Amino acid sequence: MEIKMVGVAGCGLMGHGIAQVSAEAGYEVVVTELTQEKLDRGIGKIEKQLDRAVEKGKLERADADAIRARVKPTLHPHEFAECDLVIEAITEDLDMKLDLWKQVDEIVKADAFFATNTSSLPVIDQAAATGRPERFLGLHFFNPVQRMPLLEVIQSVTTSPEAMELGMAYGARLGKTTVETKDKAGFIVNRLLVPYLLDGIRGLEEGIGSIEEIDNAMKAGAGHPMGPLTLSDFVGLDTLASIANVMFDEFRERRFAAPPTLRKMVAAGFYGVKSGRGFYDYSGEKPVPVNPGL
Ligand SMILES: NC(=O)c1ccc[n+]([C@@H]2O[C@H](COP(=O)([O-])OP(=O)(O)OC[C@H]3O[C@@H](n4cnc5c(N)ncnc54)[C@H](O)[C@@H]3O)[C@@H](O)[C@H]2O)c1
Repeated sequence: MEIKMVGVAGCGLMGHGIAQVSAEAGYEVVVTELTQEKLDRGIGKIEKQLDRAVEKGKLERADADAIRARVKPTLHPHEFAECDLVIEAITEDLDMKLDLWKQVDEIVKADAFFATNTSSLPVIDQAAATGRPERFLGLHFFNPVQRMPLLEVIQSVTTSPEAMELGMAYGARLGKTTVETKDKAGFIVNRLLVPYLLDGIRGLEEGIGSIEEIDNAMKAGAGHPMGPLTLSDFVGLDTLASIANVMFDEFRERRFAAPPTLRKMVAAGFYGVKSGRGFYDYSGEKPVPVNPGL
């Protein structure tokens, strides 16, 4: 089946990016939100990105306008009816996602495919709640969607080879680097990255170095573009903690357990870049390391 129209549920951090890159690849896009305010905010981000690309001479005005015109924002999921692929990028809450699929499954044409962008929930739990588990797969994008090249294409126990092929073809058309992986918590990237980030925090707790020393060591010694504590701040400490908790529940291994410092910082509302404070304070011109007071 050839995809012509893509539905995106959720126009937050990930959803607006998925809608944008899909429209840039030439797909017609329908994107939904819960409130007009959130929808306007997400669409505003797409328009800003397109305007910036025009200003920088990377995109012609007419092309930017054509991309924007391919994105149809709406508060009504029934507009997904004719979509060939519907991707959910709503809040990381299984009950909310199941409610969405129950509604969407009844609306969307029977031969359409469904995908979840979940970072940590098992794909099968959502697939099994629809009437088309063989047409349901995981499509895991990375933040920011417009810039990060990877797309993990995830096969749950019910996902058909046809659905995997469709996911790979969709990713290729977006210009993404696609990798096939299985429905195991964390998939490939988080399976490797999350224990590493948690170890960076544990290292800080154990006094192997200061915040800056740990970050600088991994930049200068391992060639990483940013150190583990800076990267944790970018991922969001709340997000990191919730992914770690899901992985720990699944595997019961210490390497996936959220260290006490992470739990305390999340409790304090220190979520990293998005809240202005994490391992660094982002209120000034340059981030300043703040010892979490272990
Ligand atoms: N943030 C990341 O780095 C990242 C990376 C990969 C995957 N993900 C996954 O992507 C999904 C979304 O994450 P996010 O960071 O964009 O969250 P977000 O909070 O920025 O956006 C989620 C949006 O979904 C909306 N929403 C909730 N229920 C809805 C519904 N029924 N219909 C339409 N919209 C609805 C919310 O109003 C919110 O604006 C999650 O499953 C998350 O695990 C996140």
